Parts: sequence; structure tokens; C-alpha cells
Amino acid sequence: MKKNKPAKPAAPVQQDIAAQLGLQPGQSLELLKALHILTREGKLNQDSRRKLKQVYHLYQFIQPLLEELGQGDHAVTLADHGAGKSYLGFILYDLFFKNLGRGTIYGIETRAPLVESSQRLAADLGFERMVFLNMSVADSTRADFMPERFDIVTALHACDTATDDAIAFGLEKRARAMVLVPCCQAELAAAMRQNKALHLARTPLAELWRHPIHTREIGSHLTNVLRCLYLEACGYQVTVTELVGWEHSMKNELIIARYTGQKKRSAAQRLHELLAQFGLTEALAQRYPAIQAEDQ
Ligand SMILES: C[S@@+](CC[C@H](N)C(=O)[O-])C[C@H]1O[C@@H](n2cnc3c(N)ncnc32)[C@H](O)[C@@H]1O
Repeated sequence: MKKNKPAKPAAPVQQDIAAQLGLQPGQSLELLKALHILTREGKLNQDSRRKLKQVYHLYQFIQPLLEELGQGDHAVTLADHGAGKSYLGFILYDLFFKNLGRGTIYGIETRAPLVESSQRLAADLGFERMVFLNMSVADSTRADFMPERFDIVTALHACDTATDDAIAFGLEKRARAMVLVPCCQAELAAAMRQNKALHLARTPLAELWRHPIHTREIGSHLTNVLRCLYLEACGYQVTVTELVGWEHSMKNELIIARYTGQKKRSAAQRLHELLAQFGLTEALAQRYPAIQAEDQ
């Protein structure tokens, strides 16, 4: 097994950058350069720094889960869906998995060049327990070479319904925790747009989505509300909070779900009631299979 080289003492400029970035001892500067958070000269890249801030913040929520789920020498498996350049996966590995010597991170991403560059970077850095798969979240759920169980599922700004697919993956793999920061969401808004006139005639509630910008906003908000209810109905305790300040990202909602096994029937009922109230029962008939099966 390739050994990670011990970190060299930081030079003064690097110490300053390390302080600005809040780097931890032993954290790989080579990784930050490869992710373009630091330029080749070791200076800060401001755009990527924003991403790093989000990832660090997310790490604060994920680290306690990793520690708890990795107790008793358990090798934690974590799937990061819609991984993109795998900022999150790499930082998690560098800060936690690298020195622990066990556990595996799977990055799932549909864009082949990003998967290939992540594979190269992981090989260069000797991050041996990182696996990058060029496939959709849905396909990874069905792939027979994937582990039957995953401890943690993450999805940071996975596009549109990829977050729903990540939830479906987590349910299939009986994940102990899911950490989701949803991205733009178009599915519900499209369905609400279609029936707008009908709903305006039927209920004053439809005023909430009469204007196009409101259709988009409420579609997105309602999507996340339904996701939370679905998770609760499937036995997860859900916390919803803000990831970072709005000045850093508009897509800022953080949903943390912990498996307790207590399936809330009231959440399933509320979910169905909301779908009916917003005229979405038909459009989303396939979206929540785990509770549909139970209700019938
Ligand atoms: C906005 S980027 C976020 C990337 C990364 N998680 C981050 O926060 O930097 C969303 C990524 O999800 C990928 N993606 C979208 N739909 C997907 C799907 N169904 N399965 C896997 N990846 C998907 C896109 O190719 C894109 O790289």
C-alpha cells in the first residue's frame, strides 16, 4: 500500500494561506492546487475558495457522522452523487479517510472527463480508497458491482432530480445518514405551470405560484419539503438548515437525514395531502415508491 508522505513544514506565505483557508495539519496543498483552489504558485483562487468554504462547512456536519459510523473499526462507505470535480470527496478523504486507513469514497458523476481527472488525481495523490464511476445516480443504484450497503450518502448541488435519485440510492442501500444540498429543481415547477389556470380557479393557494418566478421558487421549496417528508416516512430523522451565508451560494439548503427506523406515517400522509393540494399526485406518481407500496 502506498504511504502518504509526511507533510513538509509550511513556508511563511503558505502559512498565511493555510491560516486563511483554515487548513489542518497534514492537509495536502498538492490536492488544493490540483482542485485549482490554490494556483500553481500557491496563491488563492478566489472563485474556488468559495467552493472550498462550502465544502469545509459541510465537513463540519459530516465529520461527526463519519466518527460515529466508523466506530469499532468499521470501514465507512460513502457515496457522493453528482460529484463533479469531487471537491467534497477529495476533501473528505484528505481530512478524514486518509489517516484512518480504512473506508471508501465512491464518487458518481455522469461527465466522463471529470471522472477521468478525478481518477488521475486520486492515483497521483495515492488516495487509494477513492472510486470514481462514470454513471448516473440511478444506474449506480442498480449496478450489481456496487456494495449492497452504504453508510453515508452525500449530494452537493446534484442537478435537478439527481438529489431525488440520491435519496432513492440511500434508501436502497439502507444508508445510515444522508447529507443533501439540493440544486436547482425544475420538475415540480413544470407540473405546476401546466395546471396553473385550473388551480387559480379552484383555490387562493394557487396565488403562491401565479407569477413565473414564484412558480420556480415554490416548486423548488415544495420539492425539498416533500423530500423531507419522504425521508421521515422512510424512517429518517431530518434536520434542515442553512449551509453557508446566502452571499456564498443561493443553493443553500442543507438536509441531514439520520436513520432511526421510526417510519412516520403522518409524514407519508402529509406528503400525499400536499401532492393532492398542489395538483401533483399524477405528475409525481413514481417519485416516492417506498411509501406508495406501503399505502396500497
Ligand atoms: C452543480 S454540479 C456539482 C458538483 C459537485 N457536487 C460540487 O458541488 O462541486 C452537479 C454535477 O452533477 C452531475 N450530475 C447531474 N445529474 C446527474 C446524475 N443523474 N447522475 C450523476 N451525476 C449527475 C453533473 O454532471 C454535475 O457535474
